[in-house]
Amino acid sequence: EAGALWGGRFASGPSPELARLSKSTQFDWIFASYDIRGSKAHAKALADAGYLSSEELDGMLEALTELDARVADGRFVAAESDEDVHSALERGLIEIAGPALGGKLRAGRSRNDQIATLVRLYLIDHARAISRHIMQLLDAIVSQAEAHPDAALPGRTHLQHAQPVLLGHQLLAHAWPLVRDLERVRDWMSRATVSPYGAGALAGSSLGLDASLVARELGLTRPGENSIDSTASRDVVAEFAFITSMIGINLSRFAEEIILWNTKEFGFVTLDDGYSTGSSIMPQKKNPDIAELARGKSGRLIGNLTGLLTTLKGLPLAYNRDLQEDKEPVFDAVDTLEVLLPAFAGMVATLRFNTERMAALAPQGFSLATDVAEWLVKQGVAFRDAHEISGELVRYCEQRGLELHEPSDEELAAVSPHLTPEVRSVLSVAGSIGSRTGAGGTAPERVADQQTQLTERVAHL
Ligand code: ARG
Repeated sequence: EAGALWGGRFASGPSPELARLSKSTQFDWIFASYDIRGSKAHAKALADAGYLSSEELDGMLEALTELDARVADGRFVAAESDEDVHSALERGLIEIAGPALGGKLRAGRSRNDQIATLVRLYLIDHARAISRHIMQLLDAIVSQAEAHPDAALPGRTHLQHAQPVLLGHQLLAHAWPLVRDLERVRDWMSRATVSPYGAGALAGSSLGLDASLVARELGLTRPGENSIDSTASRDVVAEFAFITSMIGINLSRFAEEIILWNTKEFGFVTLDDGYSTGSSIMPQKKNPDIAELARGKSGRLIGNLTGLLTTLKGLPLAYNRDLQEDKEPVFDAVDTLEVLLPAFAGMVATLRFNTERMAALAPQGFSLATDVAEWLVKQGVAFRDAHEISGELVRYCEQRGLELHEPSDEELAAVSPHLTPEVRSVLSVAGSIGSRTGAGGTAPERVADQQTQLTERVAHL
């Protein structure tokens, strides 16, 4: 079989059915340039150990550079007969360098340690790209928070009005999980940058190759500690898929809020025309498709993670061909986020907030009742009684169709003698928000601190 990496012990070539099933060039071609980088590093290790003369090394590196150029401009592509990217590139190398030199490169390495390394190199690059996209989204969120320093809205629990909060506080609540996602990527990097190269098929190399040299050449920190683990584990890939799922889930929660805010009933936001879509039949429609796609794609990202974990479950050591199934789920996760994040950031950056509508709703639904109870505690009333008194005031108002600030001084006193007119200081949205100065609270000065902390945390990544 021309170009096959095996065949010596086979009397016949692969059946067409096997070839079709086994083939992976349709998706692993994306690794071509990483494979060539790996080959260059490996060639240096071979030369270092005396298996290539310095002229041979020069010839090999030159041929690999030429192959890389041919791959980049499409002069070299996978052939129908190539099983995978590794076999195709060996065929290409031999075309350029000839069989005498080209045939030497494969010593001391296996596709098992190669592929485990290449997937890391690919994921490291894309993790950096995804992090940059998240930072742009964070910029959009922080800018919106900064642009609306005084805007308040009803904070919710159980989707019911709970307590008023600053819009900036609510927006930054969506930013912090993304900051942690960035930190997760950073932590993951310390594991992803370990190099499987040199592990061979599973047992390590007998050729005395310097695996640290290869790791350094590839920008990785060190070789893996155990050659079986290096070739058989994919937890680094699964962890990447988890992080992308978590990013998707975090986006989906923000998306859901934007979808709600964009309804007629809420009326809190207007989407920019460039970041919303129309209906083919209903001329008036302006739909939050970016947010809906974010919500939908989070399911897809979870599916990728689940599929990968399922592939790994119970898989014996060391390499099994099942492991070839690790790639498409993470490729899809990368493609999904690299398209979704910029659209999402654009949608957030161009959101227009109807701050009057939000402010009008902020005190409704007795959302200041906790402020009344806490004001009573400050007057020396036990919280248990304070909760009761505030609850009675809510009941009084509800029966009469009043909001909490509307009863007269006499009516307040009739509900409880503890309810003196001074309670009115907290019966406003600004008073309520301004009083929540505890750690991580919604008071304007805390939100300003929080914004500084967030910017610093991201700057230190
Ligand atoms: N294409 C394989 C993968 O993606 C790597 C090659 C290892 N194949 C083998 N028969 N040992 O995992």
